[in-house]
Amino acid sequence: MGSELTFPANFFWGTATSPTQVEGHILNEWTDYVACDGGHCRVACNHYHLYEKDVELMAGLGVNAYRMGIEWSRLQSAPFAELNRKELDRYIHLLDCLKAAGITPMVVLHHFSNPLWITTSGGWLNPATIPAFVDYTAKIVAVLKDRVYLWNTFNEPDTYASLTYLLGGFPPFHKWRLGAFRRVVKHMAEAHIRASEAIRREHNGSGRPEIGVAKNWTYFGAFRSFALWDHVVAELTHHTFNRFVLNEFTGGKRRNASTFLGLNYYGRARLKDFRALVPTNGVSPETLKKLGLVCDDMFERHPAGFGKLLRRLHRRCGLPIYITEHGSASLDDDFRIDDLTGHLRELRGAMNDGVDVRGFFYWSLLDNFEWQFGYTKKFGLFSVDFNDAQLTRRSTRVGKFYQQICAGARAEPSRQNGRELKVS
Ligand code: FCB
Repeated sequence: MGSELTFPANFFWGTATSPTQVEGHILNEWTDYVACDGGHCRVACNHYHLYEKDVELMAGLGVNAYRMGIEWSRLQSAPFAELNRKELDRYIHLLDCLKAAGITPMVVLHHFSNPLWITTSGGWLNPATIPAFVDYTAKIVAVLKDRVYLWNTFNEPDTYASLTYLLGGFPPFHKWRLGAFRRVVKHMAEAHIRASEAIRREHNGSGRPEIGVAKNWTYFGAFRSFALWDHVVAELTHHTFNRFVLNEFTGGKRRNASTFLGLNYYGRARLKDFRALVPTNGVSPETLKKLGLVCDDMFERHPAGFGKLLRRLHRRCGLPIYITEHGSASLDDDFRIDDLTGHLRELRGAMNDGVDVRGFFYWSLLDNFEWQFGYTKKFGLFSVDFNDAQLTRRSTRVGKFYQQICAGARAEPSRQNGRELKVS
């Protein structure tokens, strides 16, 4: 049975990557890190050299948008330094290739990685990082403002602050430092506000920039309704990762700093005896299956929560929303296609109810370096053969499915100023 999904004609259908995960040849705090599978990011997908080919892949998919990062460590060698011209020119060429392919860029200014000189001076715990980031932002925007108007300051400050200072997964690998977690979030929120002023200032007279943060949203809940202790932990976790972070970035007057809210949505984590029942927490596929939990290789899937969340964020923030990331990791393409279909139905349902969503960026264009998990999580619309020196990209069925969505390939003639897609 097919169901009809109609999206506005100017809706952005995009895909997403981040520098450390795809570019390679980076010197930042991740360069020497070795992931659980023995992998590192030193070459990654070699997007650094292969970007022209990757833009061709995107053009073939038919996307009209691309969420990409610009790597701070490539551009500045010290606080307040001039931007590195050669590296800048490479990004400019990438942006020009995108333009020639009819693809609108959304640029992310911070996606989990810092230059080494930021790390050694205390990272985001040090308030001096805030003006350094704002200076970097102003310089980048001054150069790129004719090519970029969609600016995403921070990717998932909640994930970044928790993995650096609570869960020990990201450099500098600290654990259970709640005060440090809160300080990092506050500093990033302050940097977001000040960077948004700098972006507006630099754009003055050259079009209206769009500015937002990308908030990751994981649902936390108790697996068993009677387990009071799991409810308490879930509520505390929700408060810390979701409510507190959203409020720091968009609460009260701070909301005016952003013109949109980015939402990264992957699903939920339910707790049983204080333990999160998700693959990323080492719970085996057999156990998850026995408990009846539907997961990809990372999280429990929860499409219904997506629609609910969109309505809630719309009421709470009132900002237009971009789905800055959604995708799933699995070797089973049917699973991934079903997952995408379920989430797009929820997205359409929320939009029918008046939620203003402007675009959807599939994570990810390519299989890539998934931080602590190395190359074990397959998120790509294109697979990458990491055993082959050419890092050959291959099309996947989920990529072909997304291509149909982008093209409206199964579209009926347009109705209500929109494209009609039939997704089975
Ligand atoms: C998000 C990150 C992105 C990628 C996906 C799977 O939390 O923003 O870099 O790791 O998860």
